[in-house]
Amino acid sequence: MTEKILITGGAGYIGSHTTLEFLLAGKEVVVLDNLCNGSPEALLRIERLCGKQPELIIGDICDASILNELFDKHRIAAVLHFAGLKSVSESVREPLAYYENNVMGSLNLCKAMARAGVYHLVFSSSATVYGDPAQMPIHENVPTGALTNPYGRSKLIVEQLLQDLADSDPRWSIAILRYFNPVGAHSSGLIGEDPQGTPNNLLPYVAQVAIGRFSELAVYGNDYPTRDGTGVRDYIHVVDLASGHLKALQAIESTNGVKTWNLGTGTGYTVLEVIKAFERASGRQVPYRIVSRRPGDVAECWASPAKAAEELDWHAVHDLETMMIDLWRWQLKNPRGYSPQAIQLV
Ligand code: NAD
Ligand code: WQD
Repeated sequence: MTEKILITGGAGYIGSHTTLEFLLAGKEVVVLDNLCNGSPEALLRIERLCGKQPELIIGDICDASILNELFDKHRIAAVLHFAGLKSVSESVREPLAYYENNVMGSLNLCKAMARAGVYHLVFSSSATVYGDPAQMPIHENVPTGALTNPYGRSKLIVEQLLQDLADSDPRWSIAILRYFNPVGAHSSGLIGEDPQGTPNNLLPYVAQVAIGRFSELAVYGNDYPTRDGTGVRDYIHVVDLASGHLKALQAIESTNGVKTWNLGTGTGYTVLEVIKAFERASGRQVPYRIVSRRPGDVAECWASPAKAAEELDWHAVHDLETMMIDLWRWQLKNPRGYSPQAIQLV
């Protein structure tokens, strides 16, 4: 039986781009996804791009029997664990769903892995675990912060759980990847981010203003201590993020314990700079209005990617302009994401 990589959440935004990257690298992939925020269409499009479609198992990481069955049926070499819920605002309204999916789901997954003798894991964490650090850029040794929402806490709890697990048994080899702000889409325009309902994040919202779904963008505050008063973030192309997973898995293949790497570009842009870059890339205007700050937002958040560069030989290669061009191509080709329905214009 060929060894495979299990990708939980592989039908979602980052998981689908990483699935493609792994297939292109010649790996066999099995995707486990409950499709609460993912689409089987993404996997069909992956096949169009690389000639191979991963097997999709529709199921929940909270369901131990599905996990055990999967590990019994397939010879899994390692797991990339993307599955989870990711909306900060929703996590405040529905904390139990976040602790259940993100914490309990990860715990279930680790139990099933141990039962099957699979000890290599790459976990999708977030720069959100740093809270609001005093200094930029953020290195991995900056203490994790005082978190203000259940989503962030769920990620930090899983990080701690994974450390305890690795401390208890030297067979575990775990990569914790702290993503900064993933944006963009595959350059083909065939796969990309397909947020359900009103997007929470800046770039999907900007793209949906440009396509005519919303009339204007609300910019959350212009009184931060930054270049132009708007928030600064480290936007990273999703394809760079995907390649980081390949490098991280290679790196943990022959070690043990927990390794933590930031995946960011090392450059921060303000909201207004991002809007301008998007307007240049799309040739469309993005009307916006300054409103008050969004609770919980920090002024600045950008990475030092030096550790990933040194230890993984990984570098983000796509610049902001490419992120915007690729996002716009995806949005134009797929005005309603993977849904075949026509777009409702305002
Ligand atoms: P996404 O919602 O597009 O993908 C997550 C996928 O997991 C979806 O396909 C969803 O259907 C699936 N899923 C959710 N709960 C599941 C469950 N209980 N069982 C099985 N499948 C389940 O999100 P994404 O942006 O691709 O994020 C992937 C991971 O990266 C998440 O863990 C997220 O917290 C983390 N992350 C995302 C960002 C970001 O801004 N996108 C930043 C930092 C970290
Ligand atoms: C970026 C900037 C906003 C929307 C979140 C999570 C984080 C991670 C990535 C998962 C900020 C401003 C936004 C809008 C705006 N996700 N903005 N108008 O908040 O940096 O990070 O997503 O792990 O955990 O917290 O990303 O895209 O929401 O915001 O002005 O309509 O854009 O204030 O400065 P954020 P974002």
